[in-house]
Amino acid sequence: MVFYGYFGKWLYVLCFLLLFGAMCDSFGIMMLLPILNFNKLEDSNNYYTEILCKTLESLGLGVSLTSLLFVIFIIFSLKGCFMFLQKGFLAYILCGFEKRIKIDFCHKYESMKYGYFVDTKIGYLNNIVTTEIARAMNCLNTYVEVLANIIFVTIYILAAFFINFKLTVIVLFVCSLLFVAMKSLARISKNMSVLISENNAETQSVLLQIIGNFKYLKATNSFKRIFDQLFVIIESGRKYNFKGRVLVAIPLSIIDPISVLLLSGLIYYNVEYKGESLSSVLILSLIFYRLFSRVFSFQAFWQKFNSLVGGIEVLRKATKVFDIQKEHTGKLKIEKFEKIIELKGISFSFSSKQVLSDINMTIPKNKSIGIVGESGAGKTTLFDIFTGLLVPQSGTVCIDGIDYREIDISAIRNLIGYVTQDAIIFNDSFANNITLWKCNFNDYRCREKIENASIMANCDTFIKETSMGYETEVGDRGIRVSGGQKQRISIAREIYRNPDIMIFDEATSALDSESEDFVQKSINAMKGQRTVVIIAHRLSTVKKCDYIYVLKNGRIVEEGNFQELCSNTNSHFFRMCEAQNLQN
Ligand SMILES: Nc1ncnc2c1ncn2[C@@H]1O[C@H](COP(=O)(O)OP(=O)(O)O)[C@@H](O)[C@H]1O
Ligand SMILES: [Mg+2]
Repeated sequence: MVFYGYFGKWLYVLCFLLLFGAMCDSFGIMMLLPILNFNKLEDSNNYYTEILCKTLESLGLGVSLTSLLFVIFIIFSLKGCFMFLQKGFLAYILCGFEKRIKIDFCHKYESMKYGYFVDTKIGYLNNIVTTEIARAMNCLNTYVEVLANIIFVTIYILAAFFINFKLTVIVLFVCSLLFVAMKSLARISKNMSVLISENNAETQSVLLQIIGNFKYLKATNSFKRIFDQLFVIIESGRKYNFKGRVLVAIPLSIIDPISVLLLSGLIYYNVEYKGESLSSVLILSLIFYRLFSRVFSFQAFWQKFNSLVGGIEVLRKATKVFDIQKEHTGKLKIEKFEKIIELKGISFSFSSKQVLSDINMTIPKNKSIGIVGESGAGKTTLFDIFTGLLVPQSGTVCIDGIDYREIDISAIRNLIGYVTQDAIIFNDSFANNITLWKCNFNDYRCREKIENASIMANCDTFIKETSMGYETEVGDRGIRVSGGQKQRISIAREIYRNPDIMIFDEATSALDSESEDFVQKSINAMKGQRTVVIIAHRLSTVKKCDYIYVLKNGRIVEEGNFQELCSNTNSHFFRMCEAQNLQN
């Protein structure tokens, strides 16, 4: 059922191609019979040979060695064509699937609720696209191989019945005994394959930790301890792999001796005791031989199929969950931010933990708003509500009087620029980090825009000092630039995007005072020209804001401008000022 869902009616096409292939194969082998008997073809009383001769004559080919050989050649060529078509067709379907499913999942990630993302392991999301999809495709491929084997086996059995009924029954009986014997072997190797994939996962998880903490491990020469752990896992991986491979080798090596033994017995019995013609037993043997290898490979593929079917299951579950966890969004598209953003009576909690309570706040266009509060007060959560990443349990957020719930949420996000404490850096050049691949640095208009943004963000000078200027690569997570420089690049990126609203969430708190000065200057330069929201626990950062909200334990406890708040000696803000040695 599931597979039909994937393949649809194409499954029939594949089956037909396989069926034709199998028929050509058996028919081709059966054609060898008249050739082996060619000398006594005239007086042969085999009805099969008779039909064949008649068919050849009616085709105007005449019964001769050449015509028989020619027909055999044509039949096997046809078989080749069918098999090639089937493989090519399957490849075409599967590659198309894989692409579609990958893109599909990327979009699912895009539209996933932020709250769900926070609760989900990154490894899981990564694994789906990098591993599980490939596993599922491999499974579909194996499924078709299993089908192919079933079809071939059926056709071979029919052909064998056609040649010699009684003998076929005996062989099939022996064959099924063999099949049962192989099954227990298959069970052992299935267990082994589970152990191998668990071992892979363990190896990967330790490796990821090593790569993630590479600098620390190297600087403190601590590789050895974590390697001890890793090498134990690698060693058990070696054992499982070795056993797995030996198990696979057993059926592969015994198939020939066992089949030959069986067939020799057959030939001996039939020719010596029954006095049947050698040729028909030989052809029958050939068909049985092929039958045996198909039965064996059916076993192998069935086993592989079982080990891969998990991939399909993972995709099915993930699809279901992601569809449930899809972000709800309105239809209304807004282009610009005109007047005001209002938060009215916002409350938010993470499961049982109340983080924001009854927040009322207004952000007028082109004003600068400061939000201060100690760490854990709920500032970042408030930001997540601005951007629609989190949806408050009660209260409304309106932009120019329109409720967020009615607006296409991505349109709101287009209006927002965002700089966080951890600078967002991509492993690419400075230019691409600033434009997010929107334009080509070699184009002079693009260059001009990038440079202007960088000058405003105070990062132009140090970028130009690097070996390749704007085209210098910054390394993974910006490993080749300092914290303050990364932060200024993030700001340059937002300036380049030119959004209506800029939000700085603790943008300077991880910086030394010199870098902070630089960043502060770029923030100050924006004031009056765009709407700026500055979230900070350090009060110096919000000193120049037009209006300040003080957040404490998820509530707004005070609001006003810096002068007002600071002059009230009873205020929480005043005490914060004192604690941070800030006076007006
Ligand atoms: N995903 C989450 N699940 C549960 N609690 C969370 C989650 N994210 C944040 N919190 C809690 O919400 C509170 C406010 O967090 P946050 O808004 O990040 O504070 P701030 O930015 O002011 O330091 C903190 O007490 C934090 O522990
Ligand atoms: Mg925060």
